[in-house]
Amino acid sequence: MTGSAVGLGNIWKFPYITGENGGGAFVLLYLGCVFAVGLPILVSEVLLGRRGRRNPISTMEILGQEEGGSRHWRVVGTLGMFAGLLILSFYSVVAGWALAYALKSALGAFAATDARTAAVEFFAFTSDWKLLLGWHAVFMAMTVFVVAAGVQHGLERAVRVLMPLLVIMLLVLVVYSARYGDFEETLTYLFEPDFSELSGESMLIALGHCFFTLSIGMGVVMAYGAYLPEGTSIVTSSLVVVLADTAIALLAGLAVFPLVFGNQLNPAEGPGLVFETLPIAFGQLPAGALFGTVFFLLLTFAGWTSAIGLLEPAVAWVVEKFQRSRVFGAVLIGFLTWLFGTTTVLSFNVLGDFKFGRGTLFHNIDFLASYILLPACALLITVFAGWIMCRNSSSEELAIGSGLLYKGWRLLSRVVAPVAILVIAFRAVGLI
Ligand code: TRP
Repeated sequence: MTGSAVGLGNIWKFPYITGENGGGAFVLLYLGCVFAVGLPILVSEVLLGRRGRRNPISTMEILGQEEGGSRHWRVVGTLGMFAGLLILSFYSVVAGWALAYALKSALGAFAATDARTAAVEFFAFTSDWKLLLGWHAVFMAMTVFVVAAGVQHGLERAVRVLMPLLVIMLLVLVVYSARYGDFEETLTYLFEPDFSELSGESMLIALGHCFFTLSIGMGVVMAYGAYLPEGTSIVTSSLVVVLADTAIALLAGLAVFPLVFGNQLNPAEGPGLVFETLPIAFGQLPAGALFGTVFFLLLTFAGWTSAIGLLEPAVAWVVEKFQRSRVFGAVLIGFLTWLFGTTTVLSFNVLGDFKFGRGTLFHNIDFLASYILLPACALLITVFAGWIMCRNSSSEELAIGSGLLYKGWRLLSRVVAPVAILVIAFRAVGLI
């Protein structure tokens, strides 16, 4: 679960959306969402998964019948699976960037990089759509390979070793940035909220990102919950995931923003932010080329364990529904998602000026998946776990007695989380 939660969302997306939404107030709201809305819903999703012990669509169908008399709850599984594929389509493109940057770093491309050359490099790289398409293909192939083979054990062992390594690398970067960048400005920017910066739309972005980064609402956590042993505490496991995930995102912010302010860069630079800032550090650090290579490889790995989770539910569905092999399912869905990812690739070059709604094609796909579908699925999950499922079922499954902890979860999942989602959604469209 940690492997699926920690990924590009923490290191690539969190810093850039924080920069686009003005810093402190956004961070505070994000933290509030994570603990008051994300955590209880994460608990609920794991709980449903362990109760149903099937793939997400069947789980929702069966639990729906058992608890509430309707099979239609399966729509949660279907919507989540769809959102997961939309996310994977752009996720794989960006993971491809990380892979390319690992190679660039190894070849010494960042030696003596400064703020200007880093930006020029990123622009030149993303302008080459054929190259981006190629890296996107490499990453998607890696993901398809693991899902087709149904690997689980090797992955868990790798996560145990490589995640802590990623944290260590981030810590080194934070120390570097604190020393050579503008750390004071960063602390003010990230931790002194200025609520005048916070629009209804920023609130929706904070909420949606809380689901994105915790992998909530896509049935993925539900699928993992199905494998959770009876004796394992759902609440403790969820809390560990949330804490680790949040810590890594904040570390990424602390590594990136001192370089932004120290080099007079624009915090609202957009999706290129991490790729335009960290190479500055790799250009200056001793053994920077090696360090950069390892860092981008670890980032790719973190993205890989997440991408596997994004692809898995759709493949499981194809296998069950059409009685085909895992290889067939993984290759088919992987190929179609890769093809759809072309829209994101072209959003950074050929179709860069083709804007509507939220911006480029990439922005619109991200918006639909992360900020509309995810909150909608999360809302359905929390309503189901809090209102439809009977008290006995949830307290039996959570096994935390009926004391304060259980009551706390119930209050959060029945009232606080749904109200927060509805209020933020209505605010974003201007109804409140
Ligand atoms: N949580 C992942 C990240 O922060 C991205 C993600 C979103 C994901 N939904 C998921 C990963 C579902 C696996 C499964 O990068």
